[in-house]
Amino acid sequence: MKAATSVFAGLGAYTPEKVLTNADFEKLLETSDTWIRERTGISERHIARRDETTAMMAAEASKAALKEAGFGPEDLDTIICATATPDRLLPSTACDLQALLGATNAKAFDIQAACSGWIYGLVMGDSLIQSGASERVLVLGAEKLTSIMDWTDRTTAVLFGDGAGAAVLTKSDGTRGIVSSYLKSDGTLAELLWRPAGGTVCPPNEQGQLEGRGYYIKMAGREVFKNAVRSMADAASKALDKAGITSEQVDLLVPHQANLRIIEATANHANIPMDRVYVNVDRYGNTSSASIPIALDEARRAGRLKPGMTVLLVTFGAGFTWGSMVVKW
Ligand SMILES: CC(C)(COP(=O)(O)OP(=O)(O)OC[C@H]1O[C@@H](n2cnc3c(N)ncnc32)[C@H](O)[C@@H]1OP(=O)(O)O)[C@@H](O)C(=O)NCCC(=O)NCCS
Repeated sequence: MKAATSVFAGLGAYTPEKVLTNADFEKLLETSDTWIRERTGISERHIARRDETTAMMAAEASKAALKEAGFGPEDLDTIICATATPDRLLPSTACDLQALLGATNAKAFDIQAACSGWIYGLVMGDSLIQSGASERVLVLGAEKLTSIMDWTDRTTAVLFGDGAGAAVLTKSDGTRGIVSSYLKSDGTLAELLWRPAGGTVCPPNEQGQLEGRGYYIKMAGREVFKNAVRSMADAASKALDKAGITSEQVDLLVPHQANLRIIEATANHANIPMDRVYVNVDRYGNTSSASIPIALDEARRAGRLKPGMTVLLVTFGAGFTWGSMVVKW
Protein backbone atom coordinates (compact mmCIF):
# COMPACT_ATOMS: atom_id res chain seq x y z
CA MET A 1 0.00 0.00 0.00
CA LYS A 2 1.14 3.55 -0.75
CA ALA A 3 2.18 5.91 2.09
CA ALA A 4 -0.54 8.09 3.65
CA THR A 5 -0.46 11.86 3.12
CA SER A 6 -2.85 13.51 5.64
CA VAL A 7 -4.12 11.97 8.85
CA PHE A 8 -7.51 12.31 10.58
CA ALA A 9 -6.41 13.99 13.82
CA GLY A 10 -10.04 14.29 14.95
CA LEU A 11 -13.52 13.32 13.86
CA GLY A 12 -16.92 14.50 15.07
CA ALA A 13 -20.58 14.32 14.15
CA TYR A 14 -23.86 15.91 15.13
CA THR A 15 -27.45 15.03 14.37
CA PRO A 16 -30.47 16.99 15.60
CA GLU A 17 -32.51 15.64 18.48
CA LYS A 18 -35.88 15.40 16.72
CA VAL A 19 -36.57 12.13 14.92
CA LEU A 20 -39.19 11.70 12.20
CA THR A 21 -40.26 8.09 11.65
CA ASN A 22 -41.84 6.48 8.60
CA ALA A 23 -45.03 6.26 10.67
CA ASP A 24 -44.93 10.07 11.00
CA PHE A 25 -44.71 10.33 7.19
CA GLU A 26 -47.76 8.05 6.86
CA LYS A 27 -49.73 10.90 8.48
CA LEU A 28 -48.30 13.54 6.10
CA LEU A 29 -48.23 11.77 2.73
CA GLU A 30 -49.69 8.85 0.81
CA THR A 31 -46.91 6.46 1.72
CA SER A 32 -46.22 3.54 4.04
CA ASP A 33 -43.51 2.36 6.38
CA THR A 34 -43.29 -0.86 4.34
CA TRP A 35 -42.80 0.98 1.02
CA ILE A 36 -40.11 3.26 2.42
CA ARG A 37 -38.21 0.46 4.17
CA GLU A 38 -38.38 -1.95 1.22
CA ARG A 39 -37.34 0.60 -1.44
CA THR A 40 -34.80 2.59 0.58
CA GLY A 41 -33.90 0.83 3.85
CA ILE A 42 -34.81 4.02 5.76
CA SER A 43 -36.85 3.80 9.00
CA GLU A 44 -36.29 7.25 10.48
CA ARG A 45 -34.31 10.44 10.07
CA HIS A 46 -33.20 13.38 12.24
CA ILE A 47 -34.77 16.78 11.58
CA ALA A 48 -33.26 20.13 12.54
CA ARG A 49 -35.22 22.67 14.54
CA ARG A 50 -36.56 25.61 12.54
CA ASP A 51 -34.00 27.92 14.19
CA GLU A 52 -31.13 25.43 13.81
CA THR A 53 -28.88 26.34 10.88
CA THR A 54 -26.37 24.36 8.83
CA ALA A 55 -23.51 26.32 10.45
CA MET A 56 -24.87 25.60 13.94
CA MET A 57 -24.91 21.86 13.27
CA ALA A 58 -21.46 22.12 11.68
CA ALA A 59 -20.16 23.88 14.81
CA GLU A 60 -21.29 21.02 17.05
CA ALA A 61 -19.55 18.43 14.84
CA SER A 62 -16.45 20.65 14.64
CA LYS A 63 -16.17 21.02 18.41
CA ALA A 64 -16.11 17.23 18.81
CA ALA A 65 -13.46 16.86 16.07
CA LEU A 66 -11.31 19.63 17.55
CA LYS A 67 -11.55 18.11 21.02
CA GLU A 68 -10.29 14.76 19.76
CA ALA A 69 -7.49 16.44 17.80
CA GLY A 70 -6.48 18.38 20.92
CA PHE A 71 -6.70 21.71 19.07
CA GLY A 72 -8.48 24.94 19.88
CA PRO A 73 -10.40 26.73 17.12
CA GLU A 74 -7.59 29.29 16.82
CA ASP A 75 -5.19 26.47 15.83
CA LEU A 76 -7.05 25.94 12.53
CA ASP A 77 -5.60 27.59 9.42
CA THR A 78 -8.29 26.35 7.00
CA ILE A 79 -12.02 25.59 7.13
CA ILE A 80 -13.65 23.87 4.17
CA CYS A 81 -17.41 23.41 4.39
CA ALA A 82 -19.08 21.10 1.91
CA THR A 83 -22.79 21.85 1.80
CA ALA A 84 -25.68 21.88 -0.67
CA THR A 85 -27.82 23.71 1.89
CA PRO A 86 -25.84 26.83 2.85
CA ASP A 87 -27.36 29.18 5.40
CA ARG A 88 -27.19 31.97 2.80
CA LEU A 89 -25.96 32.15 -0.79
CA LEU A 90 -23.52 34.87 0.30
CA PRO A 91 -21.24 34.70 2.24
CA SER A 92 -20.20 31.10 2.73
CA THR A 93 -21.40 28.82 5.53
CA ALA A 94 -17.71 28.16 6.27
CA CYS A 95 -17.38 31.86 7.24
CA ASP A 96 -20.48 31.62 9.49
CA LEU A 97 -18.91 28.55 11.06
CA GLN A 98 -15.58 30.31 11.51
CA ALA A 99 -17.38 33.07 13.43
CA LEU A 100 -19.34 30.59 15.57
CA LEU A 101 -16.16 28.69 16.48
CA GLY A 102 -13.91 31.74 16.91
CA ALA A 103 -11.40 30.22 14.48
CA THR A 104 -9.73 33.59 14.02
CA ASN A 105 -6.60 32.34 12.21
CA ALA A 106 -8.36 30.39 9.46
CA LYS A 107 -9.20 30.99 5.82
CA ALA A 108 -12.70 29.63 5.21
CA PHE A 109 -14.66 28.69 2.11
CA ASP A 110 -17.50 26.42 0.92
CA ILE A 111 -17.45 23.79 -1.76
CA GLN A 112 -20.49 22.41 -3.57
CA ALA A 113 -20.33 18.82 -4.73
CA ALA A 114 -23.71 17.76 -3.28
CA CYS A 115 -23.60 14.38 -1.52
CA SER A 116 -19.97 13.87 -2.61
CA GLY A 117 -18.95 17.14 -0.94
CA TRP A 118 -17.15 15.77 2.10
CA ILE A 119 -14.91 13.50 0.01
CA TYR A 120 -14.23 16.43 -2.35
CA GLY A 121 -13.43 18.56 0.72
CA LEU A 122 -11.06 15.96 2.14
CA VAL A 123 -9.19 15.83 -1.17
CA MET A 124 -8.94 19.66 -1.21
CA GLY A 125 -7.73 19.70 2.40
CA ASP A 126 -5.22 16.92 1.77
CA SER A 127 -3.91 18.78 -1.31
CA LEU A 128 -3.48 22.02 0.67
CA ILE A 129 -1.52 20.12 3.32
CA GLN A 130 0.64 18.38 0.72
CA SER A 131 1.37 21.70 -1.02
CA GLY A 132 2.37 23.35 2.26
CA ALA A 133 -0.44 25.94 2.03
CA SER A 134 -2.17 24.57 5.14
CA GLU A 135 -1.27 22.58 8.23
CA ARG A 136 -4.51 22.12 10.14
CA VAL A 137 -7.65 21.82 8.05
CA LEU A 138 -11.21 21.39 9.28
CA VAL A 139 -13.39 19.66 6.67
CA LEU A 140 -17.16 19.72 7.12
CA GLY A 141 -20.06 17.96 5.53
CA ALA A 142 -23.13 19.79 6.86
CA GLU A 143 -26.71 19.83 5.63
CA LYS A 144 -30.18 21.03 6.49
CA LEU A 145 -31.87 19.17 3.67
CA THR A 146 -35.30 19.50 5.27
CA SER A 147 -35.10 23.22 4.40
CA ILE A 148 -35.18 22.45 0.65
CA MET A 149 -37.41 19.39 0.73
CA ASP A 150 -40.85 19.44 -0.87
CA TRP A 151 -42.98 18.03 1.95
CA THR A 152 -45.79 17.32 -0.55
CA ASP A 153 -43.59 15.15 -2.82
CA ARG A 154 -43.50 11.57 -1.54
CA THR A 155 -40.83 10.58 -4.07
CA THR A 156 -38.21 12.79 -2.36
CA ALA A 157 -39.47 13.88 1.09
CA VAL A 158 -39.04 10.48 2.72
CA LEU A 159 -35.40 10.16 1.67
CA PHE A 160 -33.52 12.94 3.45
CA GLY A 161 -32.35 13.96 6.92
CA ASP A 162 -30.25 16.67 8.58
CA GLY A 163 -26.85 16.56 10.28
CA ALA A 164 -23.16 17.36 10.14
CA GLY A 165 -19.79 15.62 10.30
CA ALA A 166 -16.29 17.05 10.62
CA ALA A 167 -12.68 15.96 10.39
CA VAL A 168 -9.48 17.73 11.34
CA LEU A 169 -6.70 16.86 8.89
CA THR A 170 -2.97 17.27 9.59
CA LYS A 171 0.18 16.04 7.87
CA SER A 172 0.70 12.27 8.20
CA ASP A 173 3.96 10.50 9.05
CA GLY A 174 3.02 8.13 6.23
CA THR A 175 1.68 5.28 8.35
CA ARG A 176 -1.94 6.45 8.86
CA GLY A 177 -4.41 8.58 6.94
CA ILE A 178 -5.40 9.23 3.33
CA VAL A 179 -3.72 6.75 0.99
CA SER A 180 -5.54 7.39 -2.29
CA SER A 181 -8.53 9.22 -3.70
CA TYR A 182 -10.55 9.59 -6.89
CA LEU A 183 -12.99 12.32 -7.92
CA LYS A 184 -15.20 12.59 -11.00
CA SER A 185 -18.25 14.49 -12.27
CA ASP A 186 -20.65 14.60 -15.21
CA GLY A 187 -22.47 17.93 -15.54
CA THR A 188 -24.53 16.79 -18.54
CA LEU A 189 -26.83 14.89 -16.16
CA ALA A 190 -27.50 17.78 -13.77
CA GLU A 191 -31.26 17.86 -14.32
CA LEU A 192 -31.77 14.34 -12.97
CA LEU A 193 -31.17 15.60 -9.42
CA TRP A 194 -31.37 19.31 -8.82
CA ARG A 195 -32.89 22.35 -7.21
CA PRO A 196 -33.74 24.53 -10.23
CA ALA A 197 -34.51 27.92 -8.64
CA GLY A 198 -32.82 30.41 -6.37
CA GLY A 199 -29.68 31.13 -8.40
CA THR A 200 -29.02 33.31 -11.45
CA VAL A 201 -31.14 31.21 -13.83
CA CYS A 202 -34.25 31.63 -11.71
CA PRO A 203 -33.60 34.33 -9.10
CA PRO A 204 -36.08 35.44 -6.45
CA ASN A 205 -38.57 38.11 -7.62
CA GLU A 206 -38.52 41.72 -6.45
CA GLN A 207 -40.25 40.78 -3.19
CA GLY A 208 -37.48 38.26 -2.54
CA GLN A 209 -39.92 35.36 -3.03
CA LEU A 210 -39.38 32.33 -5.20
CA GLU A 211 -42.29 31.36 -7.44
CA GLY A 212 -43.46 27.81 -7.97
CA ARG A 213 -41.80 24.80 -6.40
CA GLY A 214 -38.42 25.14 -8.12
CA TYR A 215 -36.81 25.95 -4.81
CA TYR A 216 -37.14 22.30 -3.78
CA ILE A 217 -35.06 19.22 -4.63
CA LYS A 218 -36.34 17.40 -7.71
CA MET A 219 -35.18 13.95 -8.70
CA ALA A 220 -35.64 11.31 -11.38
CA GLY A 221 -35.25 8.48 -8.84
CA ARG A 222 -34.73 5.50 -11.15
CA GLU A 223 -32.16 7.26 -13.32
CA VAL A 224 -30.30 8.51 -10.27
CA PHE A 225 -30.34 5.00 -8.84
CA LYS A 226 -28.76 3.46 -11.96
CA ASN A 227 -26.11 6.17 -12.24
CA ALA A 228 -25.29 5.91 -8.52
CA VAL A 229 -24.66 2.17 -8.71
CA ARG A 230 -22.54 2.46 -11.88
CA SER A 231 -20.49 5.41 -10.61
CA MET A 232 -19.89 4.09 -7.11
CA ALA A 233 -18.66 0.78 -8.52
CA ASP A 234 -16.29 2.73 -10.80
CA ALA A 235 -15.10 4.92 -7.92
CA ALA A 236 -14.45 1.98 -5.60
CA SER A 237 -12.18 0.23 -8.07
CA LYS A 238 -10.32 3.47 -8.95
CA ALA A 239 -9.32 4.29 -5.34
CA LEU A 240 -8.30 0.68 -4.67
CA ASP A 241 -6.12 0.62 -7.82
CA LYS A 242 -4.51 3.93 -6.88
CA ALA A 243 -3.77 2.65 -3.36
CA GLY A 244 -2.26 -0.53 -4.82
CA ILE A 245 -4.64 -2.84 -2.93
CA THR A 246 -7.52 -5.19 -3.69
CA SER A 247 -10.99 -5.34 -2.14
CA GLU A 248 -9.92 -8.33 0.00
CA GLN A 249 -7.67 -5.95 1.90
CA VAL A 250 -10.55 -3.60 2.79
CA ASP A 251 -11.61 -4.03 6.41
CA LEU A 252 -14.57 -1.66 6.21
CA LEU A 253 -16.49 -0.04 3.36
CA VAL A 254 -18.25 3.16 4.44
CA PRO A 255 -20.39 4.27 1.49
CA HIS A 256 -22.60 7.34 1.12
CA GLN A 257 -25.84 6.45 2.88
CA ALA A 258 -28.55 7.21 0.31
CA ASN A 259 -30.37 3.93 -0.13
CA LEU A 260 -29.70 0.42 1.21
CA ARG A 261 -30.15 -1.11 -2.25
CA ILE A 262 -27.51 1.23 -3.71
CA ILE A 263 -25.16 0.32 -0.85
CA GLU A 264 -25.71 -3.41 -1.40
CA ALA A 265 -25.12 -3.09 -5.14
CA THR A 266 -21.93 -1.08 -4.54
CA ALA A 267 -20.61 -3.68 -2.09
CA ASN A 268 -21.50 -6.43 -4.52
CA HIS A 269 -19.66 -4.75 -7.43
CA ALA A 270 -16.65 -4.10 -5.19
CA ASN A 271 -16.71 -7.74 -4.03
CA ILE A 272 -16.97 -6.76 -0.37
CA PRO A 273 -19.40 -8.82 1.79
CA MET A 274 -22.04 -6.85 3.72
CA ASP A 275 -20.50 -7.80 7.08
CA ARG A 276 -17.62 -5.50 6.07
CA VAL A 277 -19.94 -2.61 5.12
CA TYR A 278 -21.13 0.06 7.55
CA VAL A 279 -24.81 0.95 7.17
CA ASN A 280 -26.81 3.52 9.14
CA VAL A 281 -29.15 4.84 6.43
CA ASP A 282 -31.97 3.15 8.37
CA ARG A 283 -31.66 5.72 11.19
CA TYR A 284 -30.54 8.90 9.42
CA GLY A 285 -31.82 8.76 5.84
CA ASN A 286 -29.70 10.55 3.26
CA THR A 287 -27.84 13.43 4.95
CA SER A 288 -25.93 14.25 1.74
CA SER A 289 -22.38 15.50 2.40
CA ALA A 290 -22.74 14.68 6.12
CA SER A 291 -23.54 11.00 5.61
CA ILE A 292 -20.04 9.51 5.45
CA PRO A 293 -18.54 11.42 8.43
CA ILE A 294 -21.64 10.64 10.52
CA ALA A 295 -21.27 6.96 9.58
CA LEU A 296 -17.52 6.92 10.29
CA ASP A 297 -18.02 8.51 13.69
CA GLU A 298 -20.78 6.07 14.57
CA ALA A 299 -18.78 3.06 13.27
CA ARG A 300 -15.96 4.07 15.61
CA ARG A 301 -18.26 4.32 18.61
CA ALA A 302 -19.78 0.94 17.75
CA GLY A 303 -16.29 -0.64 17.68
CA ARG A 304 -16.60 -1.38 13.95
CA LEU A 305 -13.80 1.02 12.97
CA LYS A 306 -10.49 0.56 14.77
CA PRO A 307 -6.97 1.95 14.38
CA GLY A 308 -4.96 0.08 11.74
CA MET A 309 -7.99 -0.82 9.62
CA THR A 310 -8.06 -0.17 5.88
CA VAL A 311 -11.22 1.77 5.05
CA LEU A 312 -12.81 2.45 1.66
CA LEU A 313 -15.10 5.50 1.35
CA VAL A 314 -17.31 5.77 -1.75
CA THR A 315 -19.78 8.50 -2.63
CA PHE A 316 -22.20 9.79 -5.28
CA GLY A 317 -24.35 12.90 -5.59
CA ALA A 318 -26.01 15.59 -7.68
CA GLY A 319 -23.98 17.06 -10.49
CA PHE A 320 -23.47 14.20 -10.99
CA THR A 321 -20.42 13.95 -8.77
CA TRP A 322 -18.80 10.84 -7.39
CA GLY A 323 -15.61 9.83 -5.67
CA SER A 324 -13.76 7.51 -3.34
CA MET A 325 -10.92 7.35 -0.87
CA VAL A 326 -8.77 4.68 0.79
CA VAL A 327 -7.83 5.53 4.37
CA LYS A 328 -5.48 3.69 6.70
CA TRP A 329 -7.32 4.44 9.96
C1 LIG B 1 -36.55 7.08 -5.01
C2 LIG B 1 -36.56 5.57 -5.09
C3 LIG B 1 -36.56 5.01 -3.68
C4 LIG B 1 -37.84 5.13 -5.76
O1 LIG B 1 -37.88 3.74 -5.84
P1 LIG B 1 -38.24 3.03 -7.22
O2 LIG B 1 -38.26 1.59 -6.94
O3 LIG B 1 -37.31 3.53 -8.26
O4 LIG B 1 -39.70 3.53 -7.45
P2 LIG B 1 -40.31 4.40 -8.65
O5 LIG B 1 -39.76 5.79 -8.63
O6 LIG B 1 -40.17 3.63 -9.92
O7 LIG B 1 -41.82 4.45 -8.21
C5 LIG B 1 -42.60 3.26 -8.11
C6 LIG B 1 -43.96 3.66 -7.58
O8 LIG B 1 -43.85 4.02 -6.19
C7 LIG B 1 -44.46 5.29 -5.98
N1 LIG B 1 -43.78 5.97 -4.88
C8 LIG B 1 -42.73 6.82 -4.97
N2 LIG B 1 -42.43 7.27 -3.73
C9 LIG B 1 -43.28 6.67 -2.89
C10 LIG B 1 -43.44 6.73 -1.50
N3 LIG B 1 -42.66 7.47 -0.70
N4 LIG B 1 -44.40 5.96 -0.94
C11 LIG B 1 -45.19 5.20 -1.70
N5 LIG B 1 -45.09 5.11 -3.01
C12 LIG B 1 -44.14 5.83 -3.60
C13 LIG B 1 -44.32 5.99 -7.30
O9 LIG B 1 -45.24 7.04 -7.42
C14 LIG B 1 -44.55 4.87 -8.27
O10 LIG B 1 -45.93 4.68 -8.36
P3 LIG B 1 -46.60 4.31 -9.78
O11 LIG B 1 -45.98 3.00 -10.18
O12 LIG B 1 -48.05 4.23 -9.44
O13 LIG B 1 -46.24 5.43 -10.71
C15 LIG B 1 -35.35 5.03 -5.88
O14 LIG B 1 -35.49 5.32 -7.24
C16 LIG B 1 -34.07 5.60 -5.40
O15 LIG B 1 -33.67 5.34 -4.27
N6 LIG B 1 -33.36 6.35 -6.24
C17 LIG B 1 -32.11 6.97 -5.86
C18 LIG B 1 -32.41 8.10 -4.92
C19 LIG B 1 -31.20 8.60 -4.25
O16 LIG B 1 -30.60 7.89 -3.49
N7 LIG B 1 -30.87 9.86 -4.49
C20 LIG B 1 -29.79 10.53 -3.89
C21 LIG B 1 -28.51 10.10 -4.51
S1 LIG B 1 -27.21 10.93 -3.71
